[in-house]
Amino acid sequence: MAAHDENVVWHAHAVTRAEREQLHGHQGAVLWFTGLSGSGKSTVAGALEQALHQLGVSTYLLDGDNVRHGLCRDLGFSDADRKENIRRVGEVAKLMVDAGLIVLSAFISPHREERQMVRDMVGEGRFIEVFVDTPLAICEARDPKGLYKKARAGELRNFTGIDAVYEAPERPEIRLDGEQLVTNLRVQVLDLLRDRDIIKA
Ligand code: ADX
Repeated sequence: MAAHDENVVWHAHAVTRAEREQLHGHQGAVLWFTGLSGSGKSTVAGALEQALHQLGVSTYLLDGDNVRHGLCRDLGFSDADRKENIRRVGEVAKLMVDAGLIVLSAFISPHREERQMVRDMVGEGRFIEVFVDTPLAICEARDPKGLYKKARAGELRNFTGIDAVYEAPERPEIRLDGEQLVTNLRVQVLDLLRDRDIIKA
């Protein structure tokens, strides 16, 4: 994308992504977890990061709740703010992929359009959409932060799945059944990364 100011010119650096990837021993990629609040995105992403780290893979986990304490602290949950949230995180993920990392991101990212925007930014083949498919009733029963209860009581507006939309992925690279054990789900993603030659370990 072009810079806002025509006097800002892209600078090509001496060390390339391919060279950084060689140093890491694997290619850079994003595992983009999407699903309802309470679906298990952060839990599965966290368990997967631990396994990858133990295999010697260079990783970084970007988590919605954490990013909203810093980079995106000025954003709320309107459609426009969620879009900006995902745009910023997408740009950060893109830089980290350029650094040669395997990025795990855990954001509801409820709109197909924004997920497609990040896919286009990062590039096909390096964007792995992981749909954590957990029925709303299960997420609501788990309610780890008590937010569904607040949303049902009308104390919290624009809550995804209650009075804000969640558009499920149509063709994710992988769909995880969020009711299965985390250890099973972790193996499924590791197998996919090996099948696609993203990791060798
Ligand atoms: S996203 O829609 O912009 O992708 P994000 O993943 O960053 O959302 O943040 C979701 C987290 O914010 C939820 O897990 C929940 O803890 C909290 N949250 C607070 N208000 C809302 C809301 N209205 N809708 C969804 N999540 C909310």
